[in-house]
Amino acid sequence: MDEQALDKRVSELGERITADYRGKYPVMIGILKGSSVFMADLIRRIPIPMEIDFLKASSYGAEAQSSGNIKLESDLSIDVKDRSILLVEDIVDTGNTLKFLLNRFESMGAKEVKVCSLLDKPDRREQRIVADYIGFEIPNEFVVGYGLDYDQKYRNLPFIGILKREIYE
Ligand code: XMP
Ligand code: MG
Repeated sequence: MDEQALDKRVSELGERITADYRGKYPVMIGILKGSSVFMADLIRRIPIPMEIDFLKASSYGAEAQSSGNIKLESDLSIDVKDRSILLVEDIVDTGNTLKFLLNRFESMGAKEVKVCSLLDKPDRREQRIVADYIGFEIPNEFVVGYGLDYDQKYRNLPFIGILKREIYE
């Protein structure tokens, strides 16, 4: 996905989210660090009153393998009770991270919790999770760039590329 394709798709998602969230004063929650670049572009395409917040959930280390063991490394600073929440993710893979977060926000009394993910890798799903807004569905390849990393590198690439298998195998 080159810069132009990303820009076009982010605009389309922004338009849909703007229409759906007008008047709801939502909280857009970016899941660090992967969603940071997408989040920055997306919220500028949603010209309605909103709050933003971030949390950090760990899943991957130096390996291209999800553990299924989600740890909350840094929590929100906003009270989500009775709020409409949109979780902004870089990619839904096994679905373990989102499953954990959706359960958590529902138990904290959020009014509505939806998910916007730039990428969706449905082949590897372990949880029955469907994002409400999806940028691109991709095959089971490890991708980097536009916020996504391999071993903390490549997040600053302005495009998304497939990492060569020989790098992580
Ligand atoms: P789960 O498996 O919980 O994982 O849905 C979601 C998180 O896993 C990371 N992930 C990737 N990161 N390239 C990346 O840079 C990938 O292809 C990839 N697949 C999964 C990512 O942090 C995501 O939030
Ligand atoms: Mg992530």
